[in-house]
Amino acid sequence: MGTKMWAGRFTKETDERVNDFNSSISFDARMYRQDIEGSIAHATMLGECGIIEKSESEKIIEGLKGILADIGSGKLRFDPTAEDIHMFNEAELTARIGDAGKRLHTARSRNDQVALDLRMYLRDEIPVIKAQVRELIETLMRLAEKNLTTVMPGYTHLQRAQPITFAHHLMAYVQMLLRDLGRLSDTYKRTNIMPLGSGALASTTYPINRQRVCDLLGFDEITQNSLDGVSDRDFAIELASALSVLMMHLSRFSEEIVLWCSWEFKFIELDDAYATGSSIMPQKKNPDVTELIRGKTGRVYGDLTTLLTMMKGLSLAYNKDMQEDKEAIFDAIDTAKLCLTTFIPMIDTMKVIPENMRSAAAKGFINATDCADYLVKKGLPFRDAYKITGTLVHTCIEKGLTLETLPIEEYKALCETFDEDVYEAISLETCVMQRKAAGGPAPESVKAQIEYSKKALEQF
Ligand code: ARG
Repeated sequence: MGTKMWAGRFTKETDERVNDFNSSISFDARMYRQDIEGSIAHATMLGECGIIEKSESEKIIEGLKGILADIGSGKLRFDPTAEDIHMFNEAELTARIGDAGKRLHTARSRNDQVALDLRMYLRDEIPVIKAQVRELIETLMRLAEKNLTTVMPGYTHLQRAQPITFAHHLMAYVQMLLRDLGRLSDTYKRTNIMPLGSGALASTTYPINRQRVCDLLGFDEITQNSLDGVSDRDFAIELASALSVLMMHLSRFSEEIVLWCSWEFKFIELDDAYATGSSIMPQKKNPDVTELIRGKTGRVYGDLTTLLTMMKGLSLAYNKDMQEDKEAIFDAIDTAKLCLTTFIPMIDTMKVIPENMRSAAAKGFINATDCADYLVKKGLPFRDAYKITGTLVHTCIEKGLTLETLPIEEYKALCETFDEDVYEAISLETCVMQRKAAGGPAPESVKAQIEYSKKALEQF
């Protein structure tokens, strides 16, 4: 531990325990590239504005580039006793180029520096996550195209309700994921705003050019208030929130996959490469990946809660509490990326078992609404038709039959309106085909959904 930069004001060295407690380098070192790129832009601007000598600015930039290269190649290692990545880079720069290095921090505070670094780090990560979500959407759409006529039961209350297709079910997730892309893009807009120049809290007396730094670093605009510039973490909270919603979607999907691979459903079989065995029960093939995603969803919610709670009581502007933002948002990002990395190939390789979906659909009286609609089309009021069909279902259950196998005499005994054509009307295929309203499960409607989604995907 070297002498502190603030040593002039103090008469004692920092206690080693406080030093360790205070240090964030173990988790903020991952922003080293953003920190150096931000410093290069700052030094460039300082030189151009005549705040430091041009030659010094050039020396600083050279030195910073060297540090970047050496960290990248592994030649330079982070000093775990450094206070944070900002102090580490500055100390290393000064060690390399001497006094000019000490001029880099002119017209800057670590408060606006860390706000800049974090925004840069997050804006680099958002497109990576978006690309993964996009890949998942494409995978699901390919699978949907192959299963336009794969009939399965649709559920409410986890009770078989009405017939749909597997394609229709998959496309529901595509809609959720498209909204996730929308949220991530929206978050990006509010992240890509440049806070440097806010100083510690009250900007600076130096004649800086914030717009120049903004342009050099490819930000959309500069922040409008220096207090807000250093104390805003909304962008991190928004990202954690977008990731929480994304994880919620992956978790619901995972829950369904857990059900679908059980012997009770057996709608799909996971590829051996994406399932695990049991140490004691030789017959087991467990969907661990999906269970972990379900579990890790809680962890990302935790990260969001950490950020919201950390911020809620903070007076303006910067408070050290805010150092806690990084572990939470980094964890949310790492977790979401990790889950997507495993989830996508698992979906891509799973085997769909249409026969089992079809036979589950045949057993749950999921064509009862269509049977009632048949009577309505022949002139009966819906409530009467509903009641008659209910009685028919009851008869079927008592006799161990389905609506498809119940003899026409039984139908007629209850209501004269029934005819042989009822069997056609309640066949599962007809039930699905007839639901061709926009957004419905009929293959032509699902095809339209896929077309719409492909177009929607182009805008991201
Ligand atoms: N490591 C600090 C953080 O992550 C950097 C900002 C320090 N600012 C300060 N006033 N101590 O928040």
